[in-house]
Amino acid sequence: MSDVVFSPGPKAREIIERDQQVITPSYMRDYPFVIDHGLGAEVWDIDGQRYIDFTSGIAVLSTGHAHPQVVKAVQDQAAKYLHMSGTDFYEPLQVKLAEKLDEIAPFEEPARVYFCNSGTESVEAALKLARHRTGRAQFLGFIGGFHGRTMGSLAFTSSKYKQRADYFPMMPGVTHVPYPDPYRPILSLDGYQDYGERILAYVEDVIFQTIVPAGEVAGILVEPIQGEGGYIVPPDGFLPGLRKLCDKYGIMLIADEVQSGMGRTGKWWAFQHWGVEPDIVCSAKGIASGLPLGAVIARKSVMTWGRGAQGSTYGGNPLACAASLATIDLLENGMIANAAAVGQYLMDGLIEIMPRHPSIGQVRGKGLMIGIDLVKSPETRKPFAAVRDQAIKHAFNEGLLLLGCGTSALRFMPPLNLTQEMAGEALAMFDRALGQAEADLM
Ligand SMILES: Cc1ncc(COP(=O)(O)O)c(C=O)c1O
Repeated sequence: MSDVVFSPGPKAREIIERDQQVITPSYMRDYPFVIDHGLGAEVWDIDGQRYIDFTSGIAVLSTGHAHPQVVKAVQDQAAKYLHMSGTDFYEPLQVKLAEKLDEIAPFEEPARVYFCNSGTESVEAALKLARHRTGRAQFLGFIGGFHGRTMGSLAFTSSKYKQRADYFPMMPGVTHVPYPDPYRPILSLDGYQDYGERILAYVEDVIFQTIVPAGEVAGILVEPIQGEGGYIVPPDGFLPGLRKLCDKYGIMLIADEVQSGMGRTGKWWAFQHWGVEPDIVCSAKGIASGLPLGAVIARKSVMTWGRGAQGSTYGGNPLACAASLATIDLLENGMIANAAAVGQYLMDGLIEIMPRHPSIGQVRGKGLMIGIDLVKSPETRKPFAAVRDQAIKHAFNEGLLLLGCGTSALRFMPPLNLTQEMAGEALAMFDRALGQAEADLM
């Protein structure tokens, strides 16, 4: 196996050396990219090298880098006031944003919103809300899920063991069940046509009968499309069946839309692809185009906790709210539709190049949330992480920023305003990069 050689420029080298002295060594850093500036789906490193960004800062930059409308909204707000704290004071921008989120929330009934600063905080708050609303203590989560790294969300996060190792004991009260991955099912179908329904039968007939009684379960926390776990799209029976199961036992259905929401999949919320309404939605990442913002959006009849039950000093800070309002405006005025159209273009392109890449086992996803599973052979579907990692490095040298997910998948999560022309350019880069990785390793 030949090692991919990186040759960062002198400015990048200098920052990387300083970084290694003072920044936590727990970060991943697959390649030596050091940002100088970005615009739309393009970024330039501090030595002037241009890249197409298919990471969006981990699915955050929904409107791309430095969208002028978002930048102006932040600048205008910064000149007015920077902070007051929505927890203790009334905040006009928070109200405006919550009204907008109520409009786009995936519920028939009205919504209420709790603001925080990140994905993991939105999950923490959703868990507390579910316990508060039901008076129950237990939860179900899914193997392969990623919900954050604070102690409550971490109790669910299970996409990689190293995220959990050394941090036990976790928050008690979480039982994990398999996520319905139709490409690599870990349960037999057992007579079911739909693997999602099979998993739900396992929950009802086995888990509820042996491990945790349904009547003690406050909530089921689920990613409608599993993100860090591999960009896994569940079978069509899963989310509608999960809704029924939750209704049957009075369990809160908590949708973690931190990665899949805010238009990335071609609809506001990934849940909407299956016509399902959750009870509580966790949102962050793409909600504010890079400003730190998280939100719990719940049915009004669910968010009934009283004064002082939950709060956050910075949650929903005015700069983030201003960025979010501008983001939502851009998303609803063309970018969500663009995500659906350019996503389809990329999917079609990937399917087209599949025959000349023996390592591509499956291409899956919705809109601009696309996963490519790399395997040793399409017959065995055995994960091939080394070819994935090598392809990421070659792509970097081609000028394309990519990240992995799951055991052996790559993910495409570009900004939602990616043009078809740039998508084509990126696809050609990816085609070459994967070809080189396969030549190195297969
Ligand atoms: C689905 C999902 N939930 C929660 C989180 C945690 O978000 P944050 O890193 O903002 O805490 C992530 C982050 O990748 C995520 O993908």
